[in-house]
Amino acid sequence: MERSHYSNELGLANVGEKVTLIGWVSKRRNLGSLLFIDLRDRFGLIQIVVNDNVEIPDVRNEYVIQVKGEVAKRAVANPKLKSGEIEVIASEVVLLNTAKTTPLIIADETDALEDTRLKYRYLDLRRPCMQHYFDVRDTIKMTTHSFMHRHHFIEIETPMLCASSPEGAKEYLVPSRVHKGQFYALPQSPQMFKQLLMVAGFERYYQIARCFRDEDLRADRQPDFTQIDVETSFLDQNQFLTLMEELIKDIFKATINYDVKLPLRQMTYKEAMDRFGSDKPDTRFGIELNNIKNIFKDTTFAGYQTAEAIKAIVVNGVADQTSRKVIDGLTLEAKKFGLGGLTVLKKENGELTGSFVKFLSEAEIKALNERLALKDNDILIIAAGNDNRVTPLLGALRLKYGRELGLIKEGTYDLLWVIDFPMFERDVESGAIVATHHPFTRPRDEDVKYLDTDPTKVLSYAYDIVINGYEAGGGTLRIYNQDMQRKIFEVLGLSDEEIKERFGYFVDALQYGTPPHAGMAFGLDRLAMILGGTDNIRDVIAFPKNLAAVDPMTNAPTNVTQAQLDELGIKFDN
Ligand code: AMO
Repeated sequence: MERSHYSNELGLANVGEKVTLIGWVSKRRNLGSLLFIDLRDRFGLIQIVVNDNVEIPDVRNEYVIQVKGEVAKRAVANPKLKSGEIEVIASEVVLLNTAKTTPLIIADETDALEDTRLKYRYLDLRRPCMQHYFDVRDTIKMTTHSFMHRHHFIEIETPMLCASSPEGAKEYLVPSRVHKGQFYALPQSPQMFKQLLMVAGFERYYQIARCFRDEDLRADRQPDFTQIDVETSFLDQNQFLTLMEELIKDIFKATINYDVKLPLRQMTYKEAMDRFGSDKPDTRFGIELNNIKNIFKDTTFAGYQTAEAIKAIVVNGVADQTSRKVIDGLTLEAKKFGLGGLTVLKKENGELTGSFVKFLSEAEIKALNERLALKDNDILIIAAGNDNRVTPLLGALRLKYGRELGLIKEGTYDLLWVIDFPMFERDVESGAIVATHHPFTRPRDEDVKYLDTDPTKVLSYAYDIVINGYEAGGGTLRIYNQDMQRKIFEVLGLSDEEIKERFGYFVDALQYGTPPHAGMAFGLDRLAMILGGTDNIRDVIAFPKNLAAVDPMTNAPTNVTQAQLDELGIKFDN
């Protein structure tokens, strides 16, 4: 089909040239003897002018047309468009296809509900801002492929139909027709396969890998997502992180022309939790947590006497906006984190005020003022209780205030490694010891001695890359010693039988000359969100699921026929 240019290729240098363009009608305006058409193609918009002496077919929004004409300088330039200094005076307009009235407006600004956008995703994706996100996503992938090949990595695909494996989230299961009653699991990540590729001697593997996790969805989580998955042999932690930083630097440069300064700083998990109340701290603003437990060593307030942790944040300049209703909202937030409530005090006219002040001694008030450098119009939010509730609550409140008060400067990027994660944690519901990352993570040499006595004290060679408060990727050094791997399974309470059944092949493989190895996976979707400039992961996935894990366009998941179920030998109880 004839086309001479895309819209973004035309400028003042082309004035007088005859051109042929193809695209969709974005808008039409009839001004008496002149008809203006905004034509949209893959790379932007361009203005077409049709004089009333030129016969053209009826064109409406989203009709597909081919335009022949001559480039002319515009009387008044439109700085918002790449082609804004010129327009095309049409001599011929050919109608290639018509369109029904679209259920949503094809423009960056839209008031369509998200489910409408997802139902008509092919129209939603036609919006220029959406196409931008996919350009960013593609640039990340191309930069990755190029970087990896320069550094002697090879891309190897691993299976989608796998054996069920233990990586934390719930798995999607696929029934086997041939082996009735048995299931494949979709991979949560290629973790075990990529480690086996190290045993196989590939030394540097990567894969743009699809992963599947049946977990509660959030703004940065999808059930069906993509990782830049990496594994290497013979690199220690800092050698590996240095290499991965260089990849990230290339990606930032290629997508948004931003120079990331290397090396990235490293912060221990403990420092991240203590200061920011999060293992993915957004360090672009302050409002840090303060441990104020020792101020209350003689407290008469029963709730504080028994509290494992008493911590506080200070928010400057908001006391006058902190109404009863705001405080009730904060209390509700505390309840969501499993605490009975929290304490909010204000500093007004040099005095600490609030209903809680009556429980404070002179000495405590003085200590709070001095330690936290309280100023007029500050509020002080104190949370007391179990540390694993207090810390994340204050972490969430600091973020809320950081956003609400506009303390985060647009267009700034904050990248860091969080390292030295605990090897194990206790499952909130069952209290059982579970692996924080996955059971193949290597414990720090100096902590191995606690494996028998107090496993929760053991830290691991694990690292996350945190960008603007998002966990953009994470990984670990791996266990390469079979005795250590067995030991970890044992701490996790797996019997020999279970080990054999679930990871027999993996533990076997470790016996055949396993190299020391390390790896990580970046969330490709999260990188695309951060670099594309959206806080919604669904914007950077072409056909995502909504928050109810449904695709409103295809209606997946759907019922299947009785014949299909019979073939799989599946019967439902109800
Ligand atoms: P992890 O589980 O930390 O590690 O995942 C790595 C990165 O993948 C992204 N991510 C997600 N993105 C969107 N939706 C989800 N549901 C989702 N879950 C995770 C995050 C995360 O940092 N096999 C290990 C990596 C390794 O050790 O090599 C793994 O999968 O950005």
